Amino acid sequence: MILILCPMRVLVTGGSGLVGRAIQHIVKEEGGGKEGEEWTFLSSKDANLMNMEETRAVFQKHRPTHIIHLAAMVGGLFKNMRVNLDFWRNNIYINDNVLQAAHEVGVVKVVSCLSTCIFPDKTTYPIDETMIHNGPPHESNFGYAYAKRMIDVHNRAYFQQHGRYYTAVIPTNVFGPHDNFSIEDGHVLPGLIHKAYIAQKEGKPLVVWGSGTPRRQFIYSLDLARLFLWVLREYNEVEPIILSVGEEDEVSIKEAADAVVAALGFKGEVVYDTSKADGQFKKTASNAKLLRYLPNFSFTPFNKALKDTCDWFVANYDTARK
Ligand SMILES: NC(=O)c1ccc[n+]([C@@H]2O[C@H](COP(=O)([O-])OP(=O)(O)OC[C@H]3O[C@@H](n4cnc5c(N)ncnc54)[C@H](OP(=O)(O)O)[C@@H]3O)[C@@H](O)[C@H]2O)c1
Repeated sequence: MILILCPMRVLVTGGSGLVGRAIQHIVKEEGGGKEGEEWTFLSSKDANLMNMEETRAVFQKHRPTHIIHLAAMVGGLFKNMRVNLDFWRNNIYINDNVLQAAHEVGVVKVVSCLSTCIFPDKTTYPIDETMIHNGPPHESNFGYAYAKRMIDVHNRAYFQQHGRYYTAVIPTNVFGPHDNFSIEDGHVLPGLIHKAYIAQKEGKPLVVWGSGTPRRQFIYSLDLARLFLWVLREYNEVEPIILSVGEEDEVSIKEAADAVVAALGFKGEVVYDTSKADGQFKKTASNAKLLRYLPNFSFTPFNKALKDTCDWFVANYDTARK
């Protein structure tokens, strides 16, 4: 018998964003790519994935066998609260186009990206993979949450109707180099880093939005990238999998702010603006399923990952997304 090894052509949508750049780093600079794999990283300049014809064209051009689907309209609490309709429509279009075009060109595996912030607001803890559809999401981000939940519906339906192994991962809050450090529109950690950087420069207090009491699990983008490669190559379930640090690693926003202060060496006062929304109080997720597969996976310690991210931001201030 002659065994013909087909090359694995991996197309990464959203390859220019926070998570996409981390996967590029692991694949290209840390030897994470394997022989026989071809990697292509797309940005919105290559194709607007909200448009089906552009999506089909870029998939036909690259003929991927595997896809990591990251492209999405993404933003922090305050942007979500402002434009729920845009989050719903843009993400629904992108996901429907990507999954259908993948099916049409015969992609054998797609790994899409959900988020722990799409889980029901009223829930028991810890949250696990079986609970995605158990009740309404937090009202602050219902557009994004429902659009993301529909990826799981897509995946189950592509499997049922076409036998496709399209799956999804569920990361917690991600942070790292190349994040969106916008104070108005970004996530809490990059927003805090940017605010602390400016406060330090101007000799002003660091104003943290909200009470500081909500709790979050943060995953470093490079850890998430390593886990994505494992899911792509070895995880064979259609059911999604939570990619998160442990429940014991959850931190309050106040603890996160204190860590940013320490990482940047900020010397000023820290004040909490309680007139600003807190968002969902917590979303504590269980990584038990991940640990059953990868009991020895080692996450970068939060303070080290945060220091590296702050150093990156300071070194790249002029060009960083903000
Ligand atoms: N960041 C988090 O904390 C977090 C947490 C859980 C899950 N996730 C999920 O992880 C994935 C990656 O998030 P991220 O934080 O890396 O986001 P990001 O930094 O904002 O990057 C978004 C990516 O999507 C691309 N994109 C956006 N709209 C597009 C369109 N219409 N057509 C084609 N490409 C488009 C962007 O391209 P351009 O660079 O050209 O704009 C960019 O590459 C998303 O699915 C997100 O929902 C993120």
